[in-house]
Amino acid sequence: MSTLEEDVFSGLTAYPKKLPSKYIYDKTGDELFQKIMDMPEYYLTRAEFQILKKHKEKLSKVFDAFGGFDLIELGAGDGKKTKILLKHFMEKGLDFHYTPIDISQNVLDSLKASLKEELPGLQVTSRQGMYFKVLQDLAGYNKRRKIIMVLGSNIGNLMHKKAIDFLKNIRDSMGEDDLLFMGFDQKKHPQVILDAYNDNTGITAAFNKNLLVRINRELDADFEPDNFLHWETYNPETGTAKSFLVAKEPMTVQLKKISLEVHFKAWETIHTEISQKYDDDTVRWLAGQSDLVITEIFGTDDEAYKNYIFKRR
Ligand code: AVI
Repeated sequence: MSTLEEDVFSGLTAYPKKLPSKYIYDKTGDELFQKIMDMPEYYLTRAEFQILKKHKEKLSKVFDAFGGFDLIELGAGDGKKTKILLKHFMEKGLDFHYTPIDISQNVLDSLKASLKEELPGLQVTSRQGMYFKVLQDLAGYNKRRKIIMVLGSNIGNLMHKKAIDFLKNIRDSMGEDDLLFMGFDQKKHPQVILDAYNDNTGITAAFNKNLLVRINRELDADFEPDNFLHWETYNPETGTAKSFLVAKEPMTVQLKKISLEVHFKAWETIHTEISQKYDDDTVRWLAGQSDLVITEIFGTDDEAYKNYIFKRR
């Protein structure tokens, strides 16, 4: 079985049912996420944009402290936010090389094309693959300072235990002088968070249901996405936003490719995604568990979103 097949089989035979959010991101999922980032309710992208714009000069000084660096971005996406930094670093004539890493070759191809047009002369080498594998390859590459960058609060899609594994993996690929620059969405008014993940135009619902559409296509299944509700919860105590697909009526679904028949009772759930929200103490705790320390924090004025710099402890 492929990893997708295995994950879908184990997720839909588990109680309660679950599916990993990483499978949302096929071509349609990537496009829907682009639309999410443009929604007025999805404040995360704008917030991080503001931080990068406001602190680009300070960041250029910190990153370039030893003269020259390699900027490695995990989950580069469309690079809209990163371009603020790239443009500034180029204008200052910094000696740096940009390595965007993404799982989707599609995403990397359009990023490369737009960089060529908007920032000619930028030194860029893209790498397609799983973060960990590519990071391992880059670990030995320690000729000059590495800045590893993960924007968009992508870490929030991992539960704490997995987030720590992720940070430890990054840490293991870092040398003594290397830095990790990462975005973490912060705890805030619960309604603001619920609105960001439950827009009334239905874009986030379509994004969530894309899991079912993809499973239908790739596993020869017969999910009826309209028979499910997109449902969002936010627990202000733990800071965890959770997305569910909720069956509106009893149904049976066939997944022919993996010879699986799945029964749903009315109002039964599939848990699809977590989007963790943080505070400084939690980020400090995650860093400590991963043998990292925070060296600097950059936040929006309302502290709705923060970017942290870490180094090895
Ligand atoms: C990619 N990731 C950080 C997004 C988030 O905010 O959790 C994915 C997303 N899910 C629903 N809206 C956006």
